[in-house]
Amino acid sequence: MLGRLESLEQEGLRDLSAAADEDALQAWKVRYLGRSAELGRVLDGLRTAPKEERPALGKRANQVKQAFESAFEARQQAMAAGRLERSLQTERLDVTLPGRPLARGRLHPATQTLRQIVAIWAEMGFQVYRSRDVESDAFNFELLNIPAHHPARDMWDTFYTTTPGVVLRTHTSPGQIHVMRERAPAPIRVVLPGMCYRYEQVSARSEIQFNQVEGLAVGRHITFGDLKGTLTAFARRFFNPDVRTRFRAAHFPFTEPSAEMDVECFVCRGSRCAVCKYTGWLEVLGSGMVHPTVLANGGYDPAEFSGFAFGMGPERITMLKHRIEDIRAFWSNDLRFLEQF
Ligand code: PHE
Repeated sequence: MLGRLESLEQEGLRDLSAAADEDALQAWKVRYLGRSAELGRVLDGLRTAPKEERPALGKRANQVKQAFESAFEARQQAMAAGRLERSLQTERLDVTLPGRPLARGRLHPATQTLRQIVAIWAEMGFQVYRSRDVESDAFNFELLNIPAHHPARDMWDTFYTTTPGVVLRTHTSPGQIHVMRERAPAPIRVVLPGMCYRYEQVSARSEIQFNQVEGLAVGRHITFGDLKGTLTAFARRFFNPDVRTRFRAAHFPFTEPSAEMDVECFVCRGSRCAVCKYTGWLEVLGSGMVHPTVLANGGYDPAEFSGFAFGMGPERITMLKHRIEDIRAFWSNDLRFLEQF
């Protein structure tokens, strides 16, 4: 029996080193270490062996079992290491390959201009205020000195909602009343950026929605000179440091007097071109001294307070700056347009 154990050990180890793959290795395990393996039968047979031979036989059988187990273990590990090595060789990851480019988002051109405008006003000491897009008729018109049925309402084609007296704001000017009522009687310097809506025939020159930046300054000694100086200072910061401005008389119901500001055409520098329609000037905003009625509606005594207000359109200014000829490009979401900014 001892002899059989010796040859069994040799056979087993030889077979093990011949096992070429995982399957062969598992088959070997069943055969030499499994429940019906020969080694098991030898151990079972110990009971019938002569008493004095049992200890030596048992010891030897256990040695063979341990030898099989550790050899199996070693072989299995070697095989796993080989497999890993092979996969590292064949499935190599080349980290120097360029990755897939990720498309990079960007701010909408109107948003870029809007932020630039607001940043300049903030630098000049104006707080940024937000006012609602959905307004009452009172704030959008009446309190701004535009009574119902007044012909001046024709200036703003309005989107009315199904709720009587509720409209989409046609300009950011109603924000003036909101700020004044919140602040009275303290001095005010604010800008109000936001979307406005007009029931217009959409064309290259007019859209049904667009941004405005409203501005309002109210104090005890504000003059028309302050209006001109402040707006010119803004134009210098926004367009270029030596841009020229001019103010043309205009009419808005909520300002008196009113003026539109032009800047010298930054394309031809005043020498007349297609962008300025051969005038040398570009209109950039509407403005004026806050009308006494509007001051009163905001809670300021017009005998004591005065102020100026203005409104400018970031899309219009962006169009001038980049010579965009069709305002519809802004909200039609054509990436070929948007990706240029
Ligand atoms: N609200 C005016 C418009 O939409 C612009 C404006 C604002 C004019 C403030 C004067 C003062 O045309």
